[in-house]
Amino acid sequence: MQKVTAAITAVGGYVPETVLTNKDLEKLVDTSDEWITTRTGIKERHILREPGKATSDMAVRAILPMLEKKGISPEEIDVILVGTITGDYIFPACANIIADKIGAKNAWGFDIAAACSGFLYALETGSRFIQSGSKKVLVCGFDKMSSIIDYTDRNTCIIFGDGGGCVLLEPNTDGYGVRDSILKMDGSGREFLYQPAGGSMSPPTMETVTNRQHYVYQEGKTVFKFAVTNMADVSYDIMDRNGLNADSVDWLIAHQANLRIIDATAERMGLDKEKVLVNIDRYGNTTAGTLPLLMYDFEKKFKKGDNLILSTFGGGFTWGSIYIKWAYDPS
Ligand code: COA
Repeated sequence: MQKVTAAITAVGGYVPETVLTNKDLEKLVDTSDEWITTRTGIKERHILREPGKATSDMAVRAILPMLEKKGISPEEIDVILVGTITGDYIFPACANIIADKIGAKNAWGFDIAAACSGFLYALETGSRFIQSGSKKVLVCGFDKMSSIIDYTDRNTCIIFGDGGGCVLLEPNTDGYGVRDSILKMDGSGREFLYQPAGGSMSPPTMETVTNRQHYVYQEGKTVFKFAVTNMADVSYDIMDRNGLNADSVDWLIAHQANLRIIDATAERMGLDKEKVLVNIDRYGNTTAGTLPLLMYDFEKKFKKGDNLILSTFGGGFTWGSIYIKWAYDPS
């Protein structure tokens, strides 16, 4: 029997309309367009400002056009997996709400909280579901980071934005799709990038609110050092153990957290600049959203048979790489 792999057969993406530029942030905190641009590569990010709208609404706006373009009814979806740390509620899962909003009546699913690695973890999980018999798996990565960002904290508010993307996974027997993965985590890093309150360790109180503990806390320098080393290493390792090299890798789809981290990863892999996809300048770090949003933005560049390396790192710490053989030509 031929081996079944999980092929990506469609891609969707969405960012909200409202744009928050570096110049806008200059009015909120002590920073400058020049500092943000040179230290991170970010020029602007999108923010979901519509009242009553949450992460699930961004997902719906990406998923429905993708399914329509592909000619697939939501009722055909078997499983919905959502990488996110900003689900609409603590519970139920965002996957559950998305299924209801898109009319995926025959699906089940769940959320995966791996911060910026959420989409990569979900993609690996989805790939295993396809290998064990599921026919259509929706893998999403979306975050409404503006809901947990303190716009008086210049260490974090300059980095994050809202948005994300989704892919459809279907079985393939010709070797296209997810070929290999290396996924890692190290919980000893939790104190350097996390949301201090709101969970069972520190449930919400007047005090946690007053102390602004429901926002993202980040020790940027430590996270930076960790990210540079680990994302570069894991990207190199997956390339090496699959017999790939700088010539045979066609595209690097790297987590968009800081342009300097992306450049360091590309350099370790020996890749030419034109193979390194970047949209951090327009969206900032959308956490679980960056990888599918990159694929959505640059989908037209990918040809059937192209070798893609997806790499990420995130709070927790979490990190990893997935090697994909692209399954279709641009339409
Ligand atoms: N605007 C202007 N100055 C700022 C600033 C801002 N937004 N944030 C920090 N600074 C200042 C600091 O106070 C410091 O000043 P000092 O030298 O007088 O003490 C100086 O700039 C350098 O700060 P530092 O924290 O060393 O900057 P950095 O080069 O490490 O860049 C980050 C900061 C956050 C951009 C960088 O550490 C980073 O990208 N880290 C990883 C973040 C990340 O990827 N997070 C997501 C993980 S999924």
